[in-house]
Amino acid sequence: MASIGVGLIGTGYMGKCHALAWTGVKPVFGDTPDVRRAVLCEVTEELAQKRAGEFGFARATADWRALIADPQVDVVSITTPNPLHAEMAIAALQAGKHVWCEKPMAPRLGDAERMAEAARASGRIAILGYNYIQSPAVRYIRGLLDDGTIGAVNHVRVEMDEDFMADPEQPHSWRSEASAGYGALDDFAVHPLSLIATLLGRPASVFGEMSKPYADRPHADGRRAVETSDIATALLRLPGGIAGAIHVSRCAWGRKSRLQLQIFGSRGTIAFDQERFNEVRVYVAQGRPADQGFRTILMGPAHKPYDRFIVAPGHQMGFNDLKIIECRALLRRIAGEPAVAIDFDEGLAIERTIHAIAQASRVGRWVEV
Ligand SMILES: NC(=O)c1ccc[n+]([C@@H]2O[C@H](COP(=O)([O-])OP(=O)(O)OC[C@H]3O[C@@H](n4cnc5c(N)ncnc54)[C@H](O)[C@@H]3O)[C@@H](O)[C@H]2O)c1
Repeated sequence: MASIGVGLIGTGYMGKCHALAWTGVKPVFGDTPDVRRAVLCEVTEELAQKRAGEFGFARATADWRALIADPQVDVVSITTPNPLHAEMAIAALQAGKHVWCEKPMAPRLGDAERMAEAARASGRIAILGYNYIQSPAVRYIRGLLDDGTIGAVNHVRVEMDEDFMADPEQPHSWRSEASAGYGALDDFAVHPLSLIATLLGRPASVFGEMSKPYADRPHADGRRAVETSDIATALLRLPGGIAGAIHVSRCAWGRKSRLQLQIFGSRGTIAFDQERFNEVRVYVAQGRPADQGFRTILMGPAHKPYDRFIVAPGHQMGFNDLKIIECRALLRRIAGEPAVAIDFDEGLAIERTIHAIAQASRVGRWVEV
């Protein structure tokens, strides 16, 4: 395939990240088809035209079905709110398009199942926006685990904290509506689960708890009830007897993107935090106790694919670079080559885990996934 035509639906926070990824993937990696930014869709013609001009898309529409039907579009980026993913992704797959859909798949498990079924039936490539697994640091951690650097893993703990909803006066949005899902559980906990799936495997059973720090939030017509839970906790039983724990909050003042991963083994520990995602910290229990301590390894050209972005060590990558790596993984899969990505089947396993955690929180006991 010499070139590939892109349709982008949604141009908010993630829509811009996808647009930047589609723009950067060829210059960064060099080995992809030429990317044609064909059609962009937003809620109004006016906004779509404005964004198409900014993002360099040839045409604009307010009708996502027209975007999907467009013969110039080979792959569809879906970056709309969660309740819209299923209908858009299934329609795109049925129209023979490849799909790059933001996480989570859908608030309802039945919709996620239909998305995975549509992907299987279409024979097209469908992946999800689990960008954190694309980090050179995570690839490096995978290598450390494979090499047995920290011995046999016995415990993984992942925390994901941000504060963009910490203010009780933060206005009500789709994120606080029940139609968006459970809240922090499917908005955030899916990311730790994507890291755990990539590094250690899928949980067999789970225990969970969810909580709602604020009962209502300001809205144009007064105050509106918060229907989702902004805090969630889960315990996991992982393959090989590994104990897992996930803590997530959208209301953690001071935490901006604290996706902190700790993996403990029989010989040492690996620690990583997305707020400092160009660093991996490794502790190995060897040598004189007086000399033992964490080593901080700065990601650089030796940690692939850092070198594709910049040849100089110490200059550091950023969040949008993860989206470029993810975009390249999608293009490799479309070309029939292997690449690390969470496809709709793996994504469905994550969604099943999320619903099992929610059920465990309701019934107050461990639930099989
Ligand atoms: N991968 C990540 O790290 C990450 C981070 C944030 C959000 N997300 C996910 O990205 C998705 C979008 O979140 P966001 O923060 O970008 O939201 P957002 O509100 O900033 O953007 C959503 C955009 O979709 C547009 N939109 C809504 N309905 C539409 C329609 N029918 N047709 C065309 N456009 C429509 C809105 O106008 C808006 O511009 C969610 O699924 C969210 O979970 C992923």
